[in-house]
Amino acid sequence: MIRIDIATLFPDMCESYLSESIVGRGRKAGHIDIHCHNIRDYAGNKHNRVDDKAYGGGTGMVMQAQPIYDCITAIKQESDASPRVIYMSPQGRVLTQDIVKELAAEDSLIILCGHYEGVDQRVLDELNAEEISVGDYVLTGGELPALILTDAIARLQDGVLPNSDAYSIESHYNGLLEHPQYTRPEIWHDRAVPAVLLTGAHDAVAKWQEETALEVTRRKRPDMLYDHRVNGEPYARYIRVFVPHKEREYDIVAFMKMIFHRRILTNREQKILKRMMPVLDSLPTPPECEENSRIWLNAKNAGRILDMYAPLFDMLREHGIDYRIEYSDTPDGKPVAENENFTVFA
Ligand SMILES: C[S@@+](CC[C@H](N)C(=O)[O-])C[C@H]1O[C@@H](n2cnc3c(N)ncnc32)[C@H](O)[C@@H]1O
Repeated sequence: MIRIDIATLFPDMCESYLSESIVGRGRKAGHIDIHCHNIRDYAGNKHNRVDDKAYGGGTGMVMQAQPIYDCITAIKQESDASPRVIYMSPQGRVLTQDIVKELAAEDSLIILCGHYEGVDQRVLDELNAEEISVGDYVLTGGELPALILTDAIARLQDGVLPNSDAYSIESHYNGLLEHPQYTRPEIWHDRAVPAVLLTGAHDAVAKWQEETALEVTRRKRPDMLYDHRVNGEPYARYIRVFVPHKEREYDIVAFMKMIFHRRILTNREQKILKRMMPVLDSLPTPPECEENSRIWLNAKNAGRILDMYAPLFDMLREHGIDYRIEYSDTPDGKPVAENENFTVFA
């Protein structure tokens, strides 16, 4: 069973979340051992002060090294193993399911929550702390990030969820997003549950789930497909976007340039396109995409590229023009899949 110790100035905040629901039940049943410690208990002064002004000035207080060090040293003395010390920090490696899996396999972990302006750098160096972030934004404290990490680790521990399917057939566990979920009633607001799910045919349901997981990932997170393999082979490392127009299909960039120069757009659309022109100019634009393989875009960047295309897609939709995205495992290969009427950015 993994042991997780959280060092924080707000242990009640953490304790309250970790006592409820699935994690709370997992703790009670002895599947995971979690302790929340108050760094203020190690203040060592009569005012229980644990922070001070930053050297060099600036607004906000900095958590002092000594109370943190004493708190973590005391935790280490309680533990048989030598736990990794993780500092929740917006400067750290951004948390992914792979990092969660790696940490979930440890015997014990100490998680340090900062607050205010953060903590004195010297204690992080002294403790050899690894920094983990929950995303590229800044919160007021490390408590929510510590809870996110602890929750994600807890659900991978034996016994916390009913069985391993409950976490392994889940978004990100195997590098894909999960298929959509449905529950009763069978029809709601004229929307029916996909028929195959009502058949009870196990193989057909499994096939639908597999195919739909790929489809959902293609639509929502094409960048994840870059590393995805099917039967050991790369799956969809490249994408390209087509626009059908007057019985021909154009690469989206070529198409946009063409309509821009013909000035059939509204003023607002022309402005959007003008702003994007330098980016569009930097991308290859063959006159007729079918005859040219250079327009395949690396899927790893596809999320960014498709985001960049979003205003173009909006324009196409406003003009009632469909577009189509193809995926391939090689830049000049045969498409493995395609999305008709791509609506991710709707
Ligand atoms: C206001 S932040 C300090 C930010 C720090 N001054 C900086 O600019 O890097 C206070 C504390 O919240 C926690 N925190 C804030 N954002 C976080 C994030 N994205 N991931 C993990 N922890 C975060 C950290 O523990 C941090 O010490």
